[in-house]
Parts: sequence; C-alpha cells; structure tokens
Amino acid sequence: MKRLKELSFRTKAITPSGIRRLFDLAQKMSGVINFGIGEPDLETPLCVREAGKRAIDLGYTHYTPNAGYPELREAIAKKLKVENGIDVTAENIIVTTGASTGLLLSALTLIEPGDEVLIPDPGFVIYEAIVNMAGGKSVRVPLIEEEDFRMTPEKVNELVTKNTKCIFLNSPHNPTGAVLEFSDIKGIAEVAMDNGIYVISDEVYEKLVYDGAKHYSIASIPGMEDLAITVNSFSKTFAMCGWRIGYVAASRRLINEMIKLQQYTVVNAPSISQMAVLEGLKNPKVKTFIDEMVREYDKRRRFMVERINKITGFKAKLPKGAFYIFANVKELGLKSTDLAELILEKAAVATVPGSAFGPNGEGYLRFCYATSLANIELGLERIKKVIEDIR
Ligand SMILES: Cc1ncc(COP(=O)(O)O)c(C=O)c1O
Repeated sequence: MKRLKELSFRTKAITPSGIRRLFDLAQKMSGVINFGIGEPDLETPLCVREAGKRAIDLGYTHYTPNAGYPELREAIAKKLKVENGIDVTAENIIVTTGASTGLLLSALTLIEPGDEVLIPDPGFVIYEAIVNMAGGKSVRVPLIEEEDFRMTPEKVNELVTKNTKCIFLNSPHNPTGAVLEFSDIKGIAEVAMDNGIYVISDEVYEKLVYDGAKHYSIASIPGMEDLAITVNSFSKTFAMCGWRIGYVAASRRLINEMIKLQQYTVVNAPSISQMAVLEGLKNPKVKTFIDEMVREYDKRRRFMVERINKITGFKAKLPKGAFYIFANVKELGLKSTDLAELILEKAAVATVPGSAFGPNGEGYLRFCYATSLANIELGLERIKKVIEDIR
C-alpha cells in the first residue's frame, strides 16, 4: 500500500483540551469530588423540561429551518432588545447547537489564513482551537491578577496591527470570573471601530454576576452594529448544557453567511431543545429559577473563597462573575498541571490547571463551585490535608 497522505492542518493545529485530560483521569477513579468541569449541578427548570416532552408528543421531531424556528429567533431578538439593549430582529439571529457552534460559525465566517485574532490569556480553551482550525493566528492578550484579569482597551490597542481581524471578548470570564466594567467595554468598542475589527463577544455567563456587578453587551454600543457578534447559550443560564442550544446575533450580512455554513454542516439545532428554550424565554418561572440559582452560587462562591484561603500557599479573590475561582498557587512552586494531578491522585479532587487556559494561567488552579456546599467543604478539606502533608 502507498504511504498514507497527510491529514489536514485543521486537526493538526489543535491539541486535546487540558480540561478533558484531567476529567478523563477523574472518570477512572471513584469518589472524586469534581471542581473541574464547568457545568451547573442543577436540573433544567421543570417548565422547560415539560416543554421538551410536549414538543416530542406534538411532533416537533423534524428538521427545522437552518437558522432555527422563526418564533424562537423572534423571542431571542426580543430578549436581546429588552435585557441587553441590542437593537436586532429575528433576521439577525441564528440558533446554534450551543455557544460552541456559534463561536465556530463566527470564526469560520470571519477568519482567513494569515488573519490575527486577539484572544484572552488565560481564556476559554475553544478560542485558540477554532482560530487555528480557521487558519488564523492567535495573538494572546495577557490578563493579569493585578488588573483583576480584565481585558483592558489599552492592552487590546497595543496588540492591534493591520492584520488584526477580530477579538474574542468574554465577560463574565472563564476561567477567572472577571467581569468587565462599562468603561472597558466602551473602550474596546472604540478600538474596534477605529480599526474596523470585529468583536466576537462570548456572553454565556451573562446572568452569573454578583456583588452588584453588571453585565454589558458590546453590541449595545452605538456604531458596533456591523462589528459586534454576540454569542450566547442556554447551557449555563437555563442549566441545560446537554440540550445543546445557543445562538449568534449579528448583522444580517454575517448571519446570512453563518446560515450557509450551518446548512452544509450542522443543518439545525435540535428541534425539541428549540421548543423547550422557547418556553423558557416566555415563562416567568425561569426568571425566578435564575434569580435563585445566582443567589445559591453567590453563597457557594463566598464559602469556597474563604475555604481556599485557609489552605497554605493558596490565595483567592472573590470573583464577580461566572462560577469559577482562579486561585493563585504560585507560592507552592509547582507547575499547575503537576499540582492538579497531585490533588486528583492524593485528595481525589478534580481541579483544572491554570496553564490549560494559556501560558498566563500558569501558577493558578481553576475551581468550579457549581457543586454542593457539602462537596465544597469536603473537597477543600481533603486538599488542605494533602498540601499540609507535602509541606
Ligand atoms: C466561556 C464559554 N463559552 C462558551 C462555552 C460553551 O457553551 P455551550 O455549552 O453553549 O457550547 C463555555 C462552556 O464552558 C464557556 O465557558
């Protein structure tokens, strides 16, 4: 047989996610307390689940339009207008299989080989991978603890060149929980407008903000209509990661391109999940569910920070958003991957090494507090003991 031909640059340009590796290791062990995976521990609200079941019985089991059911696109446009101050109609929306696919469609629509794309470092692992798949070049924007891990307009401006095509913005931020101020959002919008750069704004944690922090959508800034791409999902806010529903809101010029991509790839987001989300957007019980969820996470957030700070060598600040704590473990002098593996092996607790989110994440461990207070207490107690033993 002749030598096998090379595979495409797309898969060669990406490596398996650092989060997944530890998660796979943890799956092989028993009794592991999981602070690793970023998923709500709550059930999807009852009315949403019931709407999903009803959708099956009513025969919503066929292909849907590529961009999603028109009623759902309309409901999303209304939500964006009322809650986010973004002036859009159903034509500006494409329903996707989670934010992940929304991010991919955005990247494939915008990025050409040779384009530079600014990504947060540390940042959500998908960004670099999809920039690589699209043939672009990631340019890391270093986020530092001294600036509360904020992506500032000054930093963005410094890294912009004539080849910069777009920026990935993520507030509230995974993995640090940072929430950008209005002045940051406005400043980044100004840099984008001055240079004609697109901004892909990943807002999946928009509802998870604490201590009076507010979430701002960059698409609401006047002048950003053609440049802002808002990506969001119901995975975190409606606690429905497995249902795979998200959306992108952008100019019709961009959305029409994304619809073409979707037509030849994913085809449509799951019909049953679309109907379930439609109910969720209309039913006031879901708003109550979200309010209660945020109150509960807030309690866990405070508790976890307090307990982490009791472990020698661990320092954590109270983050204002998402459901993560990015603890500084530099004092221990270990690589974050070694520390996470040690904690998994000896304490049976899963965390994520900061370096999985980019070189700037080295010296940190990410803890997700979307788990019970009892688990948080026990898991951190176990880590404390292991750290005391090795010192
Ligand atoms: C910042 C960020 N964006 C997007 C996603 C993907 O969410 P979805 O389940 O909607 O694909 C995640 C999931 O963890 C995330 O943390």
